[in-house]
Amino acid sequence: MSEELHEIRLRVNGAPHTTTVPARRLLSDCLRHDLGLTGTHVGCEHGVCGACTVQIDGRPMRSCLMFAVSAQGHDITTVEGLARPDGDLHPVQRAFRECHGLQCGFCTPGFLTVAAAFLEDNPDPTEEEAREAIGGNLCRCTGYVNIVKAVLRAAELRRAASAAVPEQAGAARARAEGGHR
Ligand code: FES
Ligand code: FES
Repeated sequence: MSEELHEIRLRVNGAPHTTTVPARRLLSDCLRHDLGLTGTHVGCEHGVCGACTVQIDGRPMRSCLMFAVSAQGHDITTVEGLARPDGDLHPVQRAFRECHGLQCGFCTPGFLTVAAAFLEDNPDPTEEEAREAIGGNLCRCTGYVNIVKAVLRAAELRRAASAAVPEQAGAARARAEGGHR
């Protein structure tokens, strides 16, 4: 007897996708095989390593522990969705590169999605908080020291960027007001 299939509509990295899957299709497999978003990596496939982590409505979630059908109606962000559409890297991506937070890179998509969600909640973490935030993700290469440094550096980059935005807005306003005089 052939397996029953379900048509699902997923919103991934801001774009709508429609695909047809069996009810038991894992979200990780759906992202990689049905949608071609292979940035999400699969390591253990049972919730231990964190390599498959994506954001569901902004919260980190192991996509190997979720069925694709359950993700319908939620906003999914994969590692492919962290950089801006113009290619500008997300602060966590820049910081991982700057601080050598990766070697083989297999674990990196999970660390990036976890760290990006964490910094939304806690933009100025202590080292201890950064360490705790990434504590559920496994890396076989780096020994975590540079990953923790990268999370703290990403926090600095984010704060610098948000301080620059009001300044730029203020400068633009001053220019506009000056133009009317
Ligand atoms: S592949 Fe999902 S937690 Fe390891
Ligand atoms: S960089 Fe290789 S597993 Fe983390």
